[in-house]
Amino acid sequence: MRFLFRPPADEAAGLLALPWGEPLEEWPDDQLLEVPQRGISRHVVRFAASDSTVYALKEIDERLARHEYAMLTDFEAEGLPTVSVLGICVDRPNDLPAILVTRFLEYSMSYRYLFSMRRVDHTSEQLIDTLVELLVRLHLAGIFWGDCSLSNTLFRPDAGSIAAYLVDAETVERHPSLSPGQRRYDVELATERVAAELMDLEIGGLLPDDIDPIEMATVLPQRYEALWDEVTREEVLRPEEQRYRIADRLQRLNELGFAVEEVELVSCPDGGVKLKVHTRVAESGQHRREFFRLTGLEVGEQQARRLLNDLRSFRAWLEQRDGRMVPDTVAGHRWVAEVYQPVVEAIPRDLAGRLAPPEIFHEILEHRWFLSEQAGRDVGTTAAARSYFATVLPQTPKEMTTPSVAAGGLT
Ligand SMILES: Nc1ncnc2c1ncn2[C@@H]1O[C@H](COP(=O)(O)OP(=O)(O)OP(=O)(O)O)[C@@H](O)[C@H]1O
Ligand SMILES: [Mg+2]
Repeated sequence: MRFLFRPPADEAAGLLALPWGEPLEEWPDDQLLEVPQRGISRHVVRFAASDSTVYALKEIDERLARHEYAMLTDFEAEGLPTVSVLGICVDRPNDLPAILVTRFLEYSMSYRYLFSMRRVDHTSEQLIDTLVELLVRLHLAGIFWGDCSLSNTLFRPDAGSIAAYLVDAETVERHPSLSPGQRRYDVELATERVAAELMDLEIGGLLPDDIDPIEMATVLPQRYEALWDEVTREEVLRPEEQRYRIADRLQRLNELGFAVEEVELVSCPDGGVKLKVHTRVAESGQHRREFFRLTGLEVGEQQARRLLNDLRSFRAWLEQRDGRMVPDTVAGHRWVAEVYQPVVEAIPRDLAGRLAPPEIFHEILEHRWFLSEQAGRDVGTTAAARSYFATVLPQTPKEMTTPSVAAGGLT
């Protein structure tokens, strides 16, 4: 047996104690964790913990495991939204297939779980949009997915919206760039799979009555075309409108969560200018970057948008109180220490892990708004947090995003 992984080595060392010589299907439950409501999968996929990190293990043909390992490694290095890969186990005894080990994507859920949960009112349209955004991002990077589906994507709540991550890269192909035909084919495959998955949800009684699976799936190619056009379209600009049209376009792309790497302007014989934008594919988002610069915290794009507003009002309050300007990075660090961290530290231990801390903070801001409306005055973050921990957070099912120990479990 051989275990191939990238350093740091200490992480993988803890996993060596697992029974790699046995078929994954037969591993004893006390070595594994239970993860609720996963997508449809062909392979044996199981979950194990080591040193308080959870890993997903997929038993799969060695050639595919090596391919997926290489692809996921590249995607992660490029900043694409994917699960993070640890390594592969090959040359197992008795010709057992290889095992691909990825790090469990924290606070993520499968589409089945999103639909089975009544608390969060995520629409299927939102789910399609976030899947389309992921596909466009991959296509911009020259990646043909070949198996885009809801099952092969993981979803993370992001301040009222949802972010999508690629989880299954077995079929991906990397090209310098994709032809329109390749992209169309990938979109067709995705549409078929999503339709089948939505039908499956319907059969299971998980789809709201007013949603027709086929109709919903046909939204996918339309949304894809619209977004692809938005991020790649060339525009011809007249000289007098150049300045604001370029700014306008960049602003729109930023709002869609795409960062522009380079703007190309080509002069046309008629005096006009052709505008081309080269979109950066990496998961970035202007709010995430700005929030990271100010606080050093990594959060989702929509979370960053909300938290930045809170940070700005904190800064304004500081300036007014002290009667002097406060540099934004100083305000950022003070906001973390005086506003954000105390709330995160106050999360009751038995409720920790149900949602990511920035998502909890965002929900507390919503809750504060709600309570303040009722009270006719601002109740403040501390009181809102207390009420939220007592009444709202406990309603988030424990098993929503956190794997639970099947029995006994590992340390
Ligand atoms: N790193 C991970 N973090 C969280 N969940 C994961 C992770 N890896 C896999 N999963 C869950 O396991 C499911 C199955 O994994 P995956 O899609 O890679 O295998 P598969 O479905 O057997 O492959 P195929 O699509 O070829 O049938 C995913 O839908 C996802 O819910
Ligand atoms: Mg899969």
